[in-house]
Amino acid sequence: MHAKIEAATNLIAPYGGRLIDLLAPEEELAEAKAYASTLPSIQISPRSVCDLEMLAVGSFSPVDRFMGEADYRSVLHDMRLSDGTVFPMPITLPVRPEDGLELGQDIALRDSMNDLLAIMTVEELYPWDHAEASEKVFATQDAKHPLVAEMARWGGLNASGPLRVLQLPRHYDFVELRRTPAEVRAVLETYGHRNVVAFQTRNPMHRVHEELTKRAIAKVDGVLLLHPSVGMTKPGDVDHYTRVRVYKALSQKYYEPDRIVLSLLPLAMRMGGPREALWHAIIRRNYGANHFIVGRDHAGPGSDSTGKPFYGPYDAQGLVSKYQVETGVTMEPFEQLVYLPDEDRYEEVSKIPADVKTMNISGTQVREEYLAKGRLLPSWFSRPETAEILGEAYPARHKQGVCLWFTGLSGAGKSTTALVLQQLLLEAGREATQLDGDIVRTHLSKGLGFSREDRDANILRIGFVAGEITRHGGTVVCAAVSPYRATRDAVRAMVDDDQFVEIFVDTPLSVCEERDVKGMYAKARRGEIKEFTGISDPYEPPLNPELTLDTENRTPVENARAIVDWLRERGFVRQEAPVSANGHKA
Ligand code: ADX
Ligand code: MG
Repeated sequence: MHAKIEAATNLIAPYGGRLIDLLAPEEELAEAKAYASTLPSIQISPRSVCDLEMLAVGSFSPVDRFMGEADYRSVLHDMRLSDGTVFPMPITLPVRPEDGLELGQDIALRDSMNDLLAIMTVEELYPWDHAEASEKVFATQDAKHPLVAEMARWGGLNASGPLRVLQLPRHYDFVELRRTPAEVRAVLETYGHRNVVAFQTRNPMHRVHEELTKRAIAKVDGVLLLHPSVGMTKPGDVDHYTRVRVYKALSQKYYEPDRIVLSLLPLAMRMGGPREALWHAIIRRNYGANHFIVGRDHAGPGSDSTGKPFYGPYDAQGLVSKYQVETGVTMEPFEQLVYLPDEDRYEEVSKIPADVKTMNISGTQVREEYLAKGRLLPSWFSRPETAEILGEAYPARHKQGVCLWFTGLSGAGKSTTALVLQQLLLEAGREATQLDGDIVRTHLSKGLGFSREDRDANILRIGFVAGEITRHGGTVVCAAVSPYRATRDAVRAMVDDDQFVEIFVDTPLSVCEERDVKGMYAKARRGEIKEFTGISDPYEPPLNPELTLDTENRTPVENARAIVDWLRERGFVRQEAPVSANGHKA
């Protein structure tokens, strides 16, 4: 072992300083890769890829493999490995009987792109129980818990056995901040502080987090290991690219340089509250920390289906402190901190007299009241660098993309309304791409017919393009019969629920047939056109469209105006000052 690392391991006495290292030695790589190419392989989930990376570099030391049954059961019931070491979180590799794994066999583990990661010798295959795992690890079976829901989709068998890792998952972003436990220890060693306090986060850092980390630095008189999780966090969280830009800006500008180390952790979080907090502390121990910050609702999954929080706000503190002698990690507790505007400082809630004015902005308010409206976060709440990075990453609604999806029978009035809408949107400052079913079928979907399969392919192609346009901040107006509900829902998921506006052009069949603008209904009735929606093919009306249009009693212009009003109310179209008849703003 490198001398410096050897020295730094003195910081982690309870684990004897040993870090697991599963990486195959350089000189064996070529041969091992050749061998792996002869093996049966399985593709592992993004979560398992994160777990594998953490196992490989020793972040989960002393765990050195996806857990076998003895460790798994012991962790579930006692929060210990079978040898007695405290470890609260099961690390398993779920597989399915269809994967055809056999005991004693070597298999190649690959990621979703089929890139080779590791060779595993299958020593154990054992069933696990979803209800038991949910109850023991997460203390709930409520599917509103993101992991309880996710675990229901995992295979029913766990596979375990020794691992030889041939290739760590590749990361091309922020490479200079991605360090193994041994590398972090080596960096900490150069700082020369005996004490290291780690801070876990999955959110952007605001001034309140700066305050609590600085208090912790002062308290332990040590260095802060700013150690955000960038593997998988809670669905809906701010993406890690944006967050890391914030952490970099803050760590460079607002902390004393010899008191902070910023490093990224490829952890796939479980949102397991207390158990997760204890796991976090053990992980940070492996990276050289001997203190760990636990604030309010650490790794909390939000509220259950009855609206009650899954865990008490300070349960995590209780569990981490209970085991702190064994783990060698001192828990650094913080109550909720709030802002005192009259004194321009932050304080823990219990230390504030009842009559003193306090201020706070919740995560929801950050999104709804500030980012969605294009307002910068105030300077008492966020450093200007943070406010700017978040403002750029989450532009106001009127700068975000939106997909307006018309569905309805042939001749219902989709294209006509869409055309009027396009002009009204241009007038309001939004330029839209039109993806009209009939036009798309002349190029993008040329050659497709009207079987269910071909119709779906057509709609999904339109949906794919719409998703790309929307993601890049554009406006797209799609007008296609799109008769199948499931396919429209698939498009909604491709685009993003928040930016998808389903507009049901609810014109009755009799009216469409009477109008028969293209003479198609007559042909369909005569049997000259097969699979004609409404006549010889089904139409499934939307159950919950954002908008429903009546084309019998409203003109296309009235309907298009109603759509623009709807968009304006939700911020997708900028609010305008009223304009008087002479064209001047009133
Ligand atoms: S977590 O899921 O990683 O715990 P988050 O990034 O929100 O989520 O929190 C990181 C740590 O900061 C946790 O220990 C949490 O309890 C603490 N924390 C976050 N906000 C506050 C606050 N306002 N007051 C006290 N502690 C907080
Ligand atoms: Mg979104």
